[in-house]
Amino acid sequence: MDVPKTVAAALEDRPVAGKRCLEAGAGAGNATAGLLANGAARVYAVTNDRGHALTTRRRVGDGGGDDGDGNGGDDGTVDHRLAVLEADLRAVPLPDDSVDLITAHGLCNVLDPAALSAVAAELSRVAAPGAHLVVDDYDPLPDDAAIRELFAVENAASELARGRPALTFYPAAFLRRFFAGHGWEFERERTLLKPVPWTESHVSTHADEAATAAADCPGESGDALAATARRLAGEIGSESVGRMYGLAFRLPD
Ligand SMILES: C[S@@+](CC[C@H](N)C(=O)[O-])C[C@H]1O[C@@H](n2cnc3c(N)ncnc32)[C@H](O)[C@@H]1O
Repeated sequence: MDVPKTVAAALEDRPVAGKRCLEAGAGAGNATAGLLANGAARVYAVTNDRGHALTTRRRVGDGGGDDGDGNGGDDGTVDHRLAVLEADLRAVPLPDDSVDLITAHGLCNVLDPAALSAVAAELSRVAAPGAHLVVDDYDPLPDDAAIRELFAVENAASELARGRPALTFYPAAFLRRFFAGHGWEFERERTLLKPVPWTESHVSTHADEAATAAADCPGESGDALAATARRLAGEIGSESVGRMYGLAFRLPD
């Protein structure tokens, strides 16, 4: 299993071995891979996206590393420490006080403020006393970042189609205070990436997301937004800008 450097750096000083972990927002399976590689006893990887659930399962089965079955390698078998749950994080299908460590790696930026609030309440509910929380995300981009315009078009299409933004970049200082308000004691902040390399593949994925939302926009606004997203993606190509940060918290015992 390949563990990205950002995940390795975010988990390096956290007690993962032997712990019951919740990976909130499984996505590409990066943090799931990190938790398993660091010796988690159990990982509940939750996502509301069927494709991401499949990717996460496959990633752990096919990644070429130790799959945790005790024979020191990835032989394509399933890692029985992992449970991928297709569920909404606003109603996590786990009992109160049932996990020791939670990761939210790149999750908050896809949650609008209302969803962030509901998800934070659920994370606090399932965390056992003394549990750890890892929140890795992106600071808002500087005004002169070209990719800001593409994200603005993606958000405009998402607002028109679904009534909520696709992306919200919360400053590290905001999430520190926000999770403190949910009972989490702040432990440390570190920089995981600076600048953030937004590759051509990231840029074109965001143009695709904008086009998908644009297809559901009322009237003719969608066509214009989709065309603008494509043009911007072509102009931007790739861009290295902004910062990814890692925050760590702990619940009182
Ligand atoms: C950008 S990805 C996170 C990357 C991932 N943590 C990793 O390490 O590869 C965001 C994930 O959160 C999921 N997500 C967003 N809102 C959600 C919700 N309300 N309930 C469950 N999953 C959600 C998305 O479907 C996606 O799988």
